[in-house]
Amino acid sequence: MKNRPGWAALYAFEVDRAAAAPVFRQVYLQLRSAILSGALRPGTKLPSTRELATQLGISRSAVVAAFEQLLAEGYAVAKKGAGTFVASDLPEPFDVGRGRSKPSTPVPKPTASSGDLGDFVDVTVQSDARPFNLGRTLIDARTAELWRKLNARTLRSFGGDHLGYGDPQGMLGLRKSVCDYLQAARAVRCEPGQVLITAGTQQAVDLVARVMQGPDKEVWVEDPGYPLTRLALAAAGAKVRPIPVDQYGLDVAEGIRRAPNARAVFITPSHQFPKGVVLSMARRLELLAWARVSGAWIVEDDYASEFRYGGRPLASLQGLDEAERVIYIGTLNKALFPGLRLGYAVLPPPLVRPFVTARYLMDRQPSTLCQAVVTAFMEEGHFASHIRRMRDKYRTQRDALVTALRRRLGDHVTVDPPDQGMHLVAYTRQGLSDVAIERAAREHEIVVRAMSRLYVEAPPQSALMLGFSGYPHQSIAPAIARLARAFER
Ligand SMILES: Cc1ncc(COP(=O)(O)O)c(C=O)c1O
Repeated sequence: MKNRPGWAALYAFEVDRAAAAPVFRQVYLQLRSAILSGALRPGTKLPSTRELATQLGISRSAVVAAFEQLLAEGYAVAKKGAGTFVASDLPEPFDVGRGRSKPSTPVPKPTASSGDLGDFVDVTVQSDARPFNLGRTLIDARTAELWRKLNARTLRSFGGDHLGYGDPQGMLGLRKSVCDYLQAARAVRCEPGQVLITAGTQQAVDLVARVMQGPDKEVWVEDPGYPLTRLALAAAGAKVRPIPVDQYGLDVAEGIRRAPNARAVFITPSHQFPKGVVLSMARRLELLAWARVSGAWIVEDDYASEFRYGGRPLASLQGLDEAERVIYIGTLNKALFPGLRLGYAVLPPPLVRPFVTARYLMDRQPSTLCQAVVTAFMEEGHFASHIRRMRDKYRTQRDALVTALRRRLGDHVTVDPPDQGMHLVAYTRQGLSDVAIERAAREHEIVVRAMSRLYVEAPPQSALMLGFSGYPHQSIAPAIARLARAFER
């Protein structure tokens, strides 16, 4: 039987070319939802790829890719010479709307203002090694060699210390090394007894959300801000209040106006993510005063503070805090490499027990072998010299990126070298959409992130975020030449 025209319209399928998700994935998701909801019954014949492509006004290859995925995952079966059918062995759908002639459109429309992240949290994008993806680090030959040696040494001594359950708070030796480093480098006030070894920032944020008590977990987050913090908090049932960020960092007065009784504020004061601004001293004091009076917690995410290239270094907010309201969180996943999965939280003393308990209930403890290797790396002074060498490398890479951007794309973007961190922000000139450039860049094998997608309520600014830490400086100019071709389109 021939599929009648308008099959796509009948099922309310449509494609949004401005969306962050690729066209084939939009088609795949809509078909899959229709199958799962029962709108497309088991055994139903799907239209031909050519016909569906014509109805949706897209390329046939996109529909073929969507069908291939449905076939690979078992939602559909291909019958030789007869076409493609919805698999007949699928379980009964849960959806009560089953059998309706016109199901509602299953794919929500992404818009920047709704704070949709598009593929920002797509794990395949997170691990994409192409320039200029965010969050990647370099490990030089010296660190690689030391890492192998220390691993071998740890394994040679493999015994009782490693085999049983360990301290859920983390190895004492590692906590001491972390404390020494933070006191010296970030003016953090701490004792090893206040340090909790975590799997990184992500776990620390999740722990804060678990430990926060009360039915109304209202929290401030930065707008724009780090999406994985906001999403983790929302997933934990927190009532998330996006507070605008300007050139002085989070607008504390606005936060107090909008949510004076919030339980916590999640903030990146030393290098705001994504904009890179520093929280001014006036705002730091205002925030600490509010937290002291209201009893709120300040969760200071001091990510990438190891990589400071110049400018006036501001000590941690935690070091200024007389009232023990700050939970300081840091990560070794940036200082070393993201696959490591080790970080730390420095807790006000009354919070140590609830946090250790929450961590114990979550996954008991960090891996003992990994902690032992990092402890040796820190105790023997290799961490400090690794940071020094990488800081020089990243500074050179940052400079190469700024030079290449100004030379090749100076008419389209404005860029200032950031004083800290592993990424920079290139603001697009009037009328250029960062989302469109992000998409065009992918076709030239370049990964740039559209900053406008990280806004929730505040009016979005169009800018590209480019990571510079993971790419040797020689690779930067050729990659920017490819990005320039994407701009030409
Ligand atoms: C703002 C911010 N905080 C923290 C992190 C590090 O997270 P984790 O330690 O979970 O790898 C990142 C990584 O991209 C980040 O951008």
